[in-house]
Amino acid sequence: MREKVLITAALPYANGPLHFGHMAGAYLPADCFARFKRLQGDDVLFISGSDEYGVAITLSAELAKRTPKEHVDHFHKINLDLFNQLNISFDHYGRTTTKLHDPIVQEFFLTLKKRGFVEEKETEQLYAEKEDRFLADRYVVGSCPKCSYPEARGDECQKCGATFDALDLKNPRSKMTGAPLVLRKTKHWFLRLDLFKESLYKWLETKDWKPNVINFIKPYIEELKDRAITRDAKWGVPLPLEDSDGKVLYVWFDAPIGYISITQEWAKNRGESEKWKEYWLDPKTRYVQFIGKDNIIFHAVVFPAMVMGQDLPYKLVDALPANEFLNLEGKQFSKSSGWMIDMKEFLTTYSSDLLRYTLAANAPETQDSEFTWRDFQIRVNTELVGKFGNFIHRSLTFIHDRMEERVPPLHALSETDNTFLAKLEEMALDIKNHYEHFQLRRVALLLMELSHLANTYFDHKKPWVLLKEKENREALETCLHICLIAIRTMALVAFPILPESAEKIWKMLGNTTSLGVQNWSLVMKEELTVGKELPEPKPLFAKIEDEQIEKESAKLQKTLTPEVAVAPKKAEIVYDDFSKLDLRVGKIEHVEKVAKSEKLLKLSIDLGFEKRTIVSGIALHFKEIEKLLGKQVIVVANLKPVKLMGITSEGMVLAAHDGGLLELPTLADLPPGSTVS
Ligand code: 2FM
Ligand code: ZN
Repeated sequence: MREKVLITAALPYANGPLHFGHMAGAYLPADCFARFKRLQGDDVLFISGSDEYGVAITLSAELAKRTPKEHVDHFHKINLDLFNQLNISFDHYGRTTTKLHDPIVQEFFLTLKKRGFVEEKETEQLYAEKEDRFLADRYVVGSCPKCSYPEARGDECQKCGATFDALDLKNPRSKMTGAPLVLRKTKHWFLRLDLFKESLYKWLETKDWKPNVINFIKPYIEELKDRAITRDAKWGVPLPLEDSDGKVLYVWFDAPIGYISITQEWAKNRGESEKWKEYWLDPKTRYVQFIGKDNIIFHAVVFPAMVMGQDLPYKLVDALPANEFLNLEGKQFSKSSGWMIDMKEFLTTYSSDLLRYTLAANAPETQDSEFTWRDFQIRVNTELVGKFGNFIHRSLTFIHDRMEERVPPLHALSETDNTFLAKLEEMALDIKNHYEHFQLRRVALLLMELSHLANTYFDHKKPWVLLKEKENREALETCLHICLIAIRTMALVAFPILPESAEKIWKMLGNTTSLGVQNWSLVMKEELTVGKELPEPKPLFAKIEDEQIEKESAKLQKTLTPEVAVAPKKAEIVYDDFSKLDLRVGKIEHVEKVAKSEKLLKLSIDLGFEKRTIVSGIALHFKEIEKLLGKQVIVVANLKPVKLMGITSEGMVLAAHDGGLLELPTLADLPPGSTVS
């Protein structure tokens, strides 16, 4: 029976370009499933879009000196282009900042409130008086409540690893301006997730999801408590209540409802505004959500609870294929440290099918997996060119050159022919099952087994020998007819992963239609038209040379930049604070290493009016310390003396650093003792 399948893929934030990891985790598996189900003749709707609200967006927009709107416009376009380049076949790729989004998000909220699932509470939050706004965790820095590290982030200390609430930070400051923050009362609305515990448990019992998903959410449900679903911010879906100016709904509240609003937009664009209901409100719909593992809680617990609390019978997710992460050459993809492959650039050099196949073969289905350039080369050269492409090209060329470019007839079948044909069917069925269960790695493996089998059949039959004797004509024609059946099967079963190549093969079999709109079982059953003309075959894939891969690997290493942590701004001071410093020009007259210390140097410095001994922690940055002699540096001359390694240090030399390198600011002309202010 024709199944109605709603497929969604997590809405990616529009605040950066997508990388291979995103594609391998959610979008490619979702696309392969959508393409597969369409071939099954099912009624498929495939939806995704940009997630455009939230603090992460406003923060990165501010850093990029764009308004949030400019920022999401910029990245929505970039990501949409990438999806198109990779042939991801969404029925609609929308955005959460479109017109239809706010009303349904607000309706979700109001219904939850009406039904007693939302509670209002007054809490204290950090407020930046100068900026005139409450600051979310990501905008806050301060001293770690555990180890006192002064630059800890709002939710986590990068020094000791402690996690906490921004309210626990000592001396909290604004990350953007460095201004100190105060506590101010504010009202927020909380979703009573605890009230859904029983329903969630019961519902989950009906699911046969992957153990990694189930095991992850069960303990979470046990601990469910209420969760704030509003924020003090301007960028977001406005809270639909009186006197709630400056309040928006939390991004994780609005984003999953985006799946519905984007479907509404899809329906509206078709001129059938109500059609979204056929998917979202029909219990017969099968709803499959593709996500990465970091999104499990929101899709398996929070969004289902939000749906359970509605009046309308919105679909709850039926299948949740959540994948692990894909790494790049042993490390996590990281834009900031340059550990990235620019996907746009990649796809101008290599065809999208090469990437799709490599990502499918390495899909992180049960554990984290990797993309490496070497593996990419092997997948292309050995598998796609050497096995899959090889069989197709050698058979088609043979038929083209030796059989008058036409489909030869089928005669009596030998045992080998029968066995091969039976195996083809069996493997196609096996592949179908693995698509049905979201197992792309298995499909990729089976595609290669199928290619190997076909090559073995060709080698065993030796059509080039059969050709020599007239009496073998029928056996030859039968063999090549069967090769064409094999090629057609390969194109069909490979289509979800290799759509471009499969379409090319389909055309090389003399078809003028598109393979993507065919029906799997009809294609498998249909007889080939004997005598049909076949166009000239062209190779599907080309080998990638070693030098090319070496060049790519070198490029990746070159873009790797050490992660520069820009030190957060410090709290504002007044001039009086600054003027307490007595800064002077001092000339280094003598320098020596401090015994038993790697880092310390003992400097004798002439301040003009007196000489000082200063112990400075700069030794690691100067290989030839004598080069420091005669340099005129800036000295804090009124710092209380301290003892370091038994030596009294009478001041401090100013140095500039970025976390890695260090330089001493020096002066050339002014005499020692001159003031610096
Ligand atoms: O993790 C992310 O990239 C989120 N933007 C995913 C949201 S999925 C859905 F809820 F919209
Ligand atoms: Zn700490």
